[in-house]
Amino acid sequence: MSSNSESEVLHIPVLKAEVIEAFSDIAEGNLIDCTLGYAGHSQALLSHYPHINIIGIDRDSEAIAYSSKKLEKFADRVEIIKGRFSDTVPYLLKNRKAQISGLLADFGVSSLQLDKDERGFSFASDNRLDMRMDTSSPLDAYTVVNQYPQDRLEYILREYAEIRNPSKIVSAIMEQRATKAIETGKELANLASKYLRSSKKIHPATLLFQAIRIEVNDELGEIERLLDTLESNPPAGAIIALITFHSLEDRLVKRRFQKWSQECICPSHSYRCTCGGDNAIGYMPHRKPITAKSDELSLNPRSRSAKLRLFRFKESL
Ligand SMILES: C[S@@+](CC[C@H](N)C(=O)[O-])C[C@H]1O[C@@H](n2cnc3c(N)ncnc32)[C@H](O)[C@@H]1O
Repeated sequence: MSSNSESEVLHIPVLKAEVIEAFSDIAEGNLIDCTLGYAGHSQALLSHYPHINIIGIDRDSEAIAYSSKKLEKFADRVEIIKGRFSDTVPYLLKNRKAQISGLLADFGVSSLQLDKDERGFSFASDNRLDMRMDTSSPLDAYTVVNQYPQDRLEYILREYAEIRNPSKIVSAIMEQRATKAIETGKELANLASKYLRSSKKIHPATLLFQAIRIEVNDELGEIERLLDTLESNPPAGAIIALITFHSLEDRLVKRRFQKWSQECICPSHSYRCTCGGDNAIGYMPHRKPITAKSDELSLNPRSRSAKLRLFRFKESL
């Protein structure tokens, strides 16, 4: 996936115009791009705002190599860090909080991770089940599918795929792996498809694969820890722009932004306010999430499920 024109065509950053607009109040300073990916958003922000710098983070070495090359012409305004945002953002806020004026995250996997057969994300793949964003991390999808206990697999499918009754699929997986390991995405999809409802829009195994991917990469834990970090060490005046792709992610962001916007934190049964009523640490410029407009929807199907939520921390905290 080194620089090639096919990748450029394939990767369209979601809600690009809306992300640019989100940071329109920021004239200078550093924006953290927690999910650099193929640097689509970062490149657009660097081009649009000539006085900002970007600190780009990604846990995927291929994404780091690709985006480092793509952003070469902005080298004096870009710093790229390989790692998880849950580790890197606390470090940046501890050491350089005053210089941070914004933070962007576009959660989930990139289309190029999904589409690259060797990365083992796809249900059409003949390669070993993998799904790791960081290929050096110890837990992969093969281990989850072939070694996790039955109750843990059921939990993952119920919680992360919202499959109400996962016991039949999980029993089929347990039965199969007792005789021979489930090696590839294709094998898993064939086995599970019999037990999953299909729809015209999505392959029946989509949610199953999403659930395994969330587990392998601890995707929800990463978001929670990022929000915890921002809550405990908020960068004054900074704009936070978070893009989610499914309700599990969006719920985490929405609830936390609502909590941060609350002036009164008295228990709901209180007769009168005793907390002082000025507890908000910032505000949401839009109550509703920003979603893709029809022109983007027709160009990029992935934008269908994207939701952008914004939060602005107070100048003095
Ligand atoms: C949807 S893509 C981002 C695309 C990017 N906004 C662009 O315009 O090219 C998500 C990227 O975030 C990375 N990623 C996901 N979770 C991460 C985490 N917890 N820490 C660091 N990088 C992460 C993935 O490896 C992937 O490259």
